[in-house]
Amino acid sequence: MTSAQQDPAPPPAAHGGPFGWLTEQDAVRRAAGLRRELRPRAADSPLVDLAGNDYLGLTRHPEVTRAGADACLRWGAGSTGSRLVTGSTALHAELEAELADFTGFEAALVLASGYAANLAAVTALTGPGTLLVSDAANHASLIDGCRLSRATTEVVRHADPEAVRKALDGHDGPAVVVSDSVFSVDGDAAPLTGLAGACREHGAALLVDDAHGLGVLGDGGRGAPQAAGLAGDPDVVCTATLSKALGAQGGVVLGPAAVIEHLVNAARTFIFDTGLAPAAAGAALAALRLLRREPERAARARSVAQDFHRRLTQAGLDATAPDACVVSVRAPSPDAAVGWAAACRDRGLVVGCFRPPSVPDGISRLRLTARCDLTDAQIAAAVGTVVETAPTAAR
Ligand SMILES: Cc1ncc(COP(=O)(O)O)c(C=O)c1O
Repeated sequence: MTSAQQDPAPPPAAHGGPFGWLTEQDAVRRAAGLRRELRPRAADSPLVDLAGNDYLGLTRHPEVTRAGADACLRWGAGSTGSRLVTGSTALHAELEAELADFTGFEAALVLASGYAANLAAVTALTGPGTLLVSDAANHASLIDGCRLSRATTEVVRHADPEAVRKALDGHDGPAVVVSDSVFSVDGDAAPLTGLAGACREHGAALLVDDAHGLGVLGDGGRGAPQAAGLAGDPDVVCTATLSKALGAQGGVVLGPAAVIEHLVNAARTFIFDTGLAPAAAGAALAALRLLRREPERAARARSVAQDFHRRLTQAGLDATAPDACVVSVRAPSPDAAVGWAAACRDRGLVVGCFRPPSVPDGISRLRLTARCDLTDAQIAAAVGTVVETAPTAAR
């Protein structure tokens, strides 16, 4: 899931018990076509999955699953506690060293999720008196980091270094600019070079969430900061997830060693959270090694996304141009998006369906993700399904 999340309406005066207001809210959601439901997924589902974020086709790669299972057998099913309490395993250290080396940053710290990594970085690197400048389309985890921090947050126009510059202009004191590298709803890339320029004019730090860039952008998937020539810079910090291109689970913060040491001492989602599970760490490490050996996976995933975009727009649909692996197709309404996604599913294709409040601009979309392991025939069939099931108003 992505971006701007609305708070639930405050509970009205208690009637119908302390949770009576939930029924009212449920009715409002149903009426607006915005009710979410969990759908079971079979282990051996025959459906083609264009809703997940397994860009490099690694989540079921035998080397990756075997490494996860081996790590589980060697180190246990869980990490048993915070890494500061029960010890940091050699596996965590190995994964951190390889992630830092691969992406070009000085040091790394792995956490239980990308969400936790974003909360860690945003909250530990800011405080009262800090100005946080946040892109309007940032992921919910960055938004929540801003909310949890005691900094002042200024939300600025999407992908606009000039707006960032303006926000920083009036501030005298520490500042951090936070942005997704690739925005999770529309798949467009942040102008990282422009953002870094604005930061440097003002002595601000740049914090980039590379959840959708690691494994896909940069040389052989080294990520968006590496692609922009910013990896390893002393004023740049990067977060990423191990759950998308690397096919596992977990999160990482990458940056100068002093930043990483500070996070170990100050980031609450590191200190007060059980360490990343060994199976996830082992699987992510194997995925990273596989990517180093097969860097062509990154380029192939990007070219599949371009192919989706070309075919969808040729068919008259309003699809976003992908800078990485995410392509969104505009739907006329939340209900139409739900019906469209269901029609795709009936024909064997799973696509993401994004509706408010998960989209900052209120526009409902289908979201398709590219994978490097899709064949040309699968790509053609998937696009055919999306096009043939499109509501008339989507063309
Ligand atoms: C941009 C972005 N940041 C962070 C996250 C959170 O990562 P994780 O799923 O590992 O918690 C996601 C995942 O949805 C994401 O899309």
